[in-house]
Amino acid sequence: MNTPSFSALQDLDELYHIHPFTNHADLYKQRTYIIQKAEGCYVYDEKNRKLLDALAGLWCVNVGYGRQEIVDAVCEQMKSVAFYPSFFNTTTTPTILLSEKLAQIAPKRLNHTIYSNSGSESNETNLKIIRNYWKLKGESKRTKILARQYAYHGVGVASTSLTGLPNCQQPFDLPLPGFIHLPAPYPYGANSSLSPEDYGQWCIAETLKRIDQEGANTIAAFFVEPIQGAGGVIVPPSGYLQQIRQICRDYGILFVADEVITGFGRLGEWFASNLWDLDPDLLSLAKGITSGYLPLGASMMSDEIAEVITKQGYFAHGFTYSGHPTVTAAALANLNLIEKENLIPRVRDEVGPYFQNKLQELAAHPNVGEVRGHGLIGAIELLPATGRAGLDPMKPLGIKAAKIAREQGVIIRGIRDLIAIAPPLIITREEIDFLFNAIRKTIDQIDVK
Ligand SMILES: Cc1ncc(COP(=O)(O)O)c(C=O)c1O
Repeated sequence: MNTPSFSALQDLDELYHIHPFTNHADLYKQRTYIIQKAEGCYVYDEKNRKLLDALAGLWCVNVGYGRQEIVDAVCEQMKSVAFYPSFFNTTTTPTILLSEKLAQIAPKRLNHTIYSNSGSESNETNLKIIRNYWKLKGESKRTKILARQYAYHGVGVASTSLTGLPNCQQPFDLPLPGFIHLPAPYPYGANSSLSPEDYGQWCIAETLKRIDQEGANTIAAFFVEPIQGAGGVIVPPSGYLQQIRQICRDYGILFVADEVITGFGRLGEWFASNLWDLDPDLLSLAKGITSGYLPLGASMMSDEIAEVITKQGYFAHGFTYSGHPTVTAAALANLNLIEKENLIPRVRDEVGPYFQNKLQELAAHPNVGEVRGHGLIGAIELLPATGRAGLDPMKPLGIKAAKIAREQGVIIRGIRDLIAIAPPLIITREEIDFLFNAIRKTIDQIDVK
């Protein structure tokens, strides 16, 4: 095949390709970056510039790029059975083995998985499991869903409704009725003078008030990202999540942990639910389950929910590619690498603390309002020299910072006025040093450029 030049590809991209979550006017002005090679923690763009990918693709390439073990597993599976569905009383070997593996590593009551193709679909699936469950339990009045402001749960009509970000909802006149958004434990975002703990307590009080107003027996479930990722890496104060969990237990509300970002090692545990003892009723998974090598979503449910769902006989939900064998083979190879290379203890004991120390060192920088993080995820709130008063919602600093950082050789994500970082779990101390040097240079320039 004769591949067109990069400049011709950029023309074609502009003519034929609509990009997700992209300002197309900016894109056409700036031209599209084309990633042509990826290895370890690095990607190479159309100019063959080597960039440290401190966002792991999109919070997902946990084992890093170019892992031959995953490529081999995918090739082998494609040669034997590239695809067969899990409908019609049938499935395939890697899909069964992955379900067993997930049951082994997930919180102990969660032993049953139904697959999809993305994080959005894992949440859509969990929403339908929940509706079906309450109907079968004779409580079909329980239809309302609790979520939080700044939550990100995906882009389906229902998962956009779960999401708590107005810019994802307003263009589509969402949320749908029945999706209720409670305050998130984000005192910095609220410009609150309360300590994180006191602000967390205020959120809890507001949550209880709202449950009372709505009537607990009309509420089906509460969806929670243990650390809110795309909403700005919002790390809860200690004890807050356990209190939310207990409230759900007290009121018979199902507790769903959306661990699409926090799952598969990013926090130094398989799941945040294990780390913080959240004992969820359902789990939404994607991203790190395959390290992004192929698309996969998974919805896990407790034994009790699985019993109710399966006892009814026919469960009328699933995608053509639920449990696609090539994808589940990739997931198995990926989970095997995470284990074989001890990536989880490595994040917990070694690179995670090192990364968090580097992050904390930036807290005193005059252009930094706050830093937060856990394991290998972090956020830096940026400030101009004039402080918070100088922030301009029309010119958020995050996007500007991401552009400057790219010139320094690193990819980070700009969200509002903050930088989000979530590198591959294989990142070394030297690479973390390089990353934070580049970020420091970026922050030094944020006011000047
Ligand atoms: C917590 C969380 N849930 C759900 C999603 C949606 O996943 P996807 O983009 O695979 O549909 C994301 C994506 O970033 C996410 O971070």
